[in-house]
Amino acid sequence: MRSVVPDYLIEALGDARADTSGALAAYIPELAAADPERLGAVFATVDGEVYGAGDIDTEFTIQSISKPFAYALALADRGFDAVLAKVGVEPSGEAFNQISLESDTGRPLNPMINAGAITAHSLAGSAEMTAAERVQRVVDGLSAFAGRQLTTDTAVCASELEHAHRNLAIAHMLRSHDILTEDPRTVVDGYTRQCSVLVTTRDLAMMAATLANRGINPVSGARVIHEPVVRQVLSVMSTCGMYDAAGDWATQVGIPAKSGVAGGLIGALPGQIGIATFSPRLDRHGNSVRGVSLFERFSSDMGLHVMEVPAAARAVVRSNHVVGAGRDAIRVLELQGGVGFSAAERIVREAVDTAPTEVGVALDLTMVYSIDDVGRRMLLEVVRRLTLDGHEVYLVDPETLVPDPDPGDGGRVTVVKTLEQEQNSSDR
Ligand code: DON
Repeated sequence: MRSVVPDYLIEALGDARADTSGALAAYIPELAAADPERLGAVFATVDGEVYGAGDIDTEFTIQSISKPFAYALALADRGFDAVLAKVGVEPSGEAFNQISLESDTGRPLNPMINAGAITAHSLAGSAEMTAAERVQRVVDGLSAFAGRQLTTDTAVCASELEHAHRNLAIAHMLRSHDILTEDPRTVVDGYTRQCSVLVTTRDLAMMAATLANRGINPVSGARVIHEPVVRQVLSVMSTCGMYDAAGDWATQVGIPAKSGVAGGLIGALPGQIGIATFSPRLDRHGNSVRGVSLFERFSSDMGLHVMEVPAAARAVVRSNHVVGAGRDAIRVLELQGGVGFSAAERIVREAVDTAPTEVGVALDLTMVYSIDDVGRRMLLEVVRRLTLDGHEVYLVDPETLVPDPDPGDGGRVTVVKTLEQEQNSSDR
């Protein structure tokens, strides 16, 4: 059977192709020479499957899509405090190249607008690095997200640098506030090289999927960035990634995203998928026209809005039944899906409402695929309280989702691979 996903992408691109509105980025002469008809889209799942249609292997410059990744590198290399002291996290509601800094501190409002991104570039790598080493750190860091070594487009870089007056003005302002401590021209040069990194739509989808996959590249399996950094980056993407269109985007699409003036657009849906599109004509915000409409369609067709509630949390208790009879009877709560706070709360409620009369109570995790820290702690507290109420508690945990369970004071639990294993051992 042929997968339905590429066919869906082909159909979506076919519909998007008719829209020829928007214009190429004219302020970088090399970008104005791009083929405006290029069009591609890629889905990369967090378990490493890649689906694409259209021009998915055409290289173009990453531009502002580099910003969340360079911000991630700065956070990883210098720590949260050092970065937050110099770049805020408030949406600006202004254009990407607005010359705006916080009035009292001189801090750029966020790392997605140019002022914040130029600062974030200066914070990638260690303070001792030369400008060239910093650029290399950024290119290598972006490459780790993509899972292949990326290069820069020197022609686009030179073309932008010839006209970088606005970014230079921003950098000089940053220097005057001591937000930048190096020569503003050197930092703008490095930032522009960062924007000139060449990527394909496939690369961008993989970079987005690495963010969606808690910082682990889904194909190489390499941990590129730690989870607290991923959370920070995705949060800032969701509030600031689309500049002065961020509110429209949040309501219409609802996927943390970032656009670039060469026509790329990425979205990272935590735990699910990285999406990238490529189409060079831009709207007045500097976002790809067809990219925005493709994302609107993907989000509504597939229910990808982050605010849409996953059904799995509601159905964590798959069944509540009794096996065996008499004194050997065991009340079984058969659980399923992913267990975080809301699922664990349902389990607590089920245990309270059931008030089991059987001595044996089993929490069966066979159909559970993940359990987070709060889920694990709440489950063990249920075990402890059941023990204190006089129950013999079993944890059916064939995949060892809860290694070395310790229910704490007064709690006791027997871990088994299957419930039959427990019943056979008590028959002997
Ligand atoms: O700083 C600049 O002007 C560019 N090199 C990057 C801008 C960009 O991609 C804005 N996003 N849509």
